[in-house]
Amino acid sequence: MVPALPTHIATVSLLSFFTLVSSAANRDILRPGTSLAVEAYQSEILQSPDGSFSCGFYGVYGNAFTFSIWYSKAANKTVVWSANRDRPVHSRRSALTLHKDGNMVLTDYDDAVVWQADDDGNSRRNVQHVQLLDTGNLVMKNTSGRIIWQSFDSPTDTLLPAQRIMAATNLVPTTQSHAPGNYIFRFNDISVLSLIYDVPEVSDIYWPNPDNSVYENNRSRYNSTRLAILDNNGILASSDFADGVLLKASDAAPGIRRRLTLDPDGNLRLYSLNDSDGMWSVSMVAISQPCTIHGICGQNGICHYSPEPTCSCPPGYVMTNPGNWTQGCTASFNIPCHDQEPMKFVKLPHTDFWGSDQKRLLGVSFETCRNSCISDCTCKGFQYQQGAGSCYPKALLFNGKSCATPSVRTIYLKLPARLNVSDTPIPQSNVLDPAPPRLDCNQMSRGIRYPFPDLHKTGDEELNWLYFYSFIVAIFVFEASFITFAWFFVLRREMRPSEMWAAEEGYRVMTSHFRRYSYRELVEATRKFRVELGRGSSGTVYKGVLEDERPVAVKKLENVSRGKEEFQAELSVIGRIYHMNLARIWGFCSEGSHRLLVCEYVENGSLANILFKDQKTVVLDWKQRFNIALGVAKGLAYLHHECLEWVIHCDVKPENILLDTNFEPKITDFGLAKLLNRGGATQNMSQVRGTIGYIAPEWVSSLPITAKVDVYSYGVVLLELLSGTRVSELAVGSGAEVHSMLQKLVRVLADKLGGHKESSINEFVDPELGGRFSYVQARTMLKLAVSCLQEDRNKRPTMESVVQTLLPFDEASS
Ligand SMILES: *[C@@H]1O[C@H](CO)[C@@H](O)[C@H](O)[C@H]1NC(C)=O
Ligand SMILES: *[C@@H]1O[C@H](CO)[C@@H](O)[C@H](O)[C@H]1NC(C)=O
Ligand SMILES: *[C@@H]1O[C@H](CO)[C@@H](O)[C@H](O)[C@H]1NC(C)=O
Ligand SMILES: *[C@@H]1O[C@H](CO)[C@@H](O)[C@H](O)[C@H]1NC(C)=O
Ligand SMILES: *[C@@H]1O[C@H](CO)[C@@H](O)[C@H](O)[C@H]1NC(C)=O
Ligand SMILES: *[C@@H]1O[C@H](CO)[C@@H](O)[C@H](O)[C@H]1NC(C)=O
Ligand SMILES: *[C@@H]1O[C@H](CO)[C@@H](O)[C@H](O)[C@H]1NC(C)=O
Repeated sequence: MVPALPTHIATVSLLSFFTLVSSAANRDILRPGTSLAVEAYQSEILQSPDGSFSCGFYGVYGNAFTFSIWYSKAANKTVVWSANRDRPVHSRRSALTLHKDGNMVLTDYDDAVVWQADDDGNSRRNVQHVQLLDTGNLVMKNTSGRIIWQSFDSPTDTLLPAQRIMAATNLVPTTQSHAPGNYIFRFNDISVLSLIYDVPEVSDIYWPNPDNSVYENNRSRYNSTRLAILDNNGILASSDFADGVLLKASDAAPGIRRRLTLDPDGNLRLYSLNDSDGMWSVSMVAISQPCTIHGICGQNGICHYSPEPTCSCPPGYVMTNPGNWTQGCTASFNIPCHDQEPMKFVKLPHTDFWGSDQKRLLGVSFETCRNSCISDCTCKGFQYQQGAGSCYPKALLFNGKSCATPSVRTIYLKLPARLNVSDTPIPQSNVLDPAPPRLDCNQMSRGIRYPFPDLHKTGDEELNWLYFYSFIVAIFVFEASFITFAWFFVLRREMRPSEMWAAEEGYRVMTSHFRRYSYRELVEATRKFRVELGRGSSGTVYKGVLEDERPVAVKKLENVSRGKEEFQAELSVIGRIYHMNLARIWGFCSEGSHRLLVCEYVENGSLANILFKDQKTVVLDWKQRFNIALGVAKGLAYLHHECLEWVIHCDVKPENILLDTNFEPKITDFGLAKLLNRGGATQNMSQVRGTIGYIAPEWVSSLPITAKVDVYSYGVVLLELLSGTRVSELAVGSGAEVHSMLQKLVRVLADKLGGHKESSINEFVDPELGGRFSYVQARTMLKLAVSCLQEDRNKRPTMESVVQTLLPFDEASS
């Protein structure tokens, strides 16, 4: 018996080997007791038999994943279902597991259960497997082949052919930040299939047309069947529709891949896939006039066509949150109810705020209607119609729309009499007109206080702004999800009090301080750009003081045509990044051709300034140097590994390392680097940045850029910290010469380090220190520098491991 044992073990390991191999291949079935790991998100995928759909981990940004189903045949992955849309999991150790007892759970890196397939009672017995079908439905079957759970029962924002909308089915859009939006597609209380704008203050239906009766909309009420289904021909049939066909695709025919999606703009669209190029085209849209979608301009905001659908604030109101129209406009005045302040009304013809009527008065005079609004301090304005004498005082101003159609009437907005607003109405054009008049949008901004006049430029500029705004919008949404997300990770780790504070501080900064500044504000803050702090490849930095007396560094980006991309790249990471070793960005300005960043002012200027100055006023002592080395490593490690979006700095050098009053380092300019997507190793840097002397060799040989370029540059900075001289100045000339000189130096250093001679290290350390340094720390730093400067980037350590190497030698912490 004894000799048989090894064979047995061999069989077992061979078996598990085969299991491993087979689990790596694409398949359509997940068996009980197995799981899909997030690390293998590219290979561990379920695929429907005909290959149309895939199911697995889907990267939403940097380190965050959802468990999703997507169309494989579209040019880009089109997600049709997600288990955990509002709570992504981390890129390490997360997994989806089908347990033997039939429980299917999605766990995060810390084993927290993020999602599980709901289980109606005890039906989850005898599970055979989970399978992805050709319809895009992920189903769980029991051993008698019956479906006991399916993804079709819990749609996110998309409905696929054959998937049913039933009494309890909701479609909610996915915003650009992958969070759920404020719209719902479902059967309403009287069993009419509807689109609903749903926020805490109001919840109302905007499709079918709320101005018509149910029957005028060709719907029927109270059909308790409550069933709608999209068929393979592109026809959406619903139980509340008289002849069944509610919506029909323009290309209605079998054999076309389709999806019905509630988009983030609140519109419901049916898409058809072109098999040859993998592009989606819209074949049906529920709402053809965007301004009839409720809530698109937020509370108090007004939607109008100019001729693009555009949001504006009414007189006396300003935009609440730059870049987020979903938050609408806020009154620039505040009238407590007990105040007897005289009020006036501003007439806005062809404008209406749908709903939120306090009451309806019929056959009353204008005066009566006006007085009714005056006497009620909660009344924000009223709608009045001359002929019928109908009067609707408004409790809230939502769903504002300005457009000359018979259904849109006149609103009288209540404002304090002291407020100086002109009567210029909100301009309008009827989008139904075949040739909508081209409006002078500068003129229309008169009388209405726009926070950002640029928004209303015409033509291409406006389109750019739309793009730009969606960018900002993304940041702000992102912020919210990031904060929740960040807390999850931050709080779950054992936190030291200082880290706790940093996280809290980060939260505060992101929510309250990041904002947009006007150019005028920044001209004032910098006293017309009087004090120059520095000049870099991307622009000049000036000192400034904000109104709240915060000192700031204002970076004026030059060369705007190119700067714009850089600016937007920087912006797109700003909202998310906070670390004590990264210089904070308080806000930005973007007006006309001006692109500016408002950054934290760091008192002691750059490391380059202190380290390489001819007449030194300050000599960094050893402790400070080690602390700078460690701090910079921590900042870079944060950028490379801990942000949800991976960031490569690409321009690490002493000029970009600022020192605060305690000589704590803060890296700046990090936002200017191009963001890396997941699978970054294959990404190309289109634009070479970086500075000769600090750039890694792979840059010159145009290999793909990875985080290891920063590790290389960091190695150069370490040498400079140690020696107190600019390493690149040891050799004059082209990048290649500097590089080969550096490689020579590295070889010499490596030899010396092998020799264990104290003197060899002493020779290298800055003589200004007069020998006052820690030999062990210096040796560690030098060793690190040598490994960071390896020609082969795979041999260089990661920034995380650099931090781990330095930490044990940090006297401050021990
Ligand atoms: C499978 O599920 C069906 C429906 O829930 C149930 O009637 C049947 O008994 C189940 N089969 C087994 C083997 O559990
Ligand atoms: C309802 O159906 C009638 C007849 O088909 C059509 O003329 C009318 O436009 C429809 N109403 C709406 C609101 O779609
Ligand atoms: C309710 O809807 C179903 C399914 O569309 C239909 O067969 C039925 O006739 C409808 N009932 C009424 C009363 O309209
Ligand atoms: C599909 O795409 C191809 C290539 O772009 C194009 O030639 C063709 O007209 C498209 N088909 C449809 C139905 O749009
Ligand atoms: C796919 O994504 C790329 C990059 O985000 C984008 O430029 C392209 O337009 C997308 N293609 C489709 C079909 O959406
Ligand atoms: C209100 O605006 C008008 C026109 O801009 C101006 O002439 C007038 O002086 C202003 N009144 C007050 C009180 O500011
Ligand atoms: C806009 O504001 C709403 C409401 O406060 C918020 O839920 C949403 O996340 C914000 N969106 C963006 C794009 O910032």
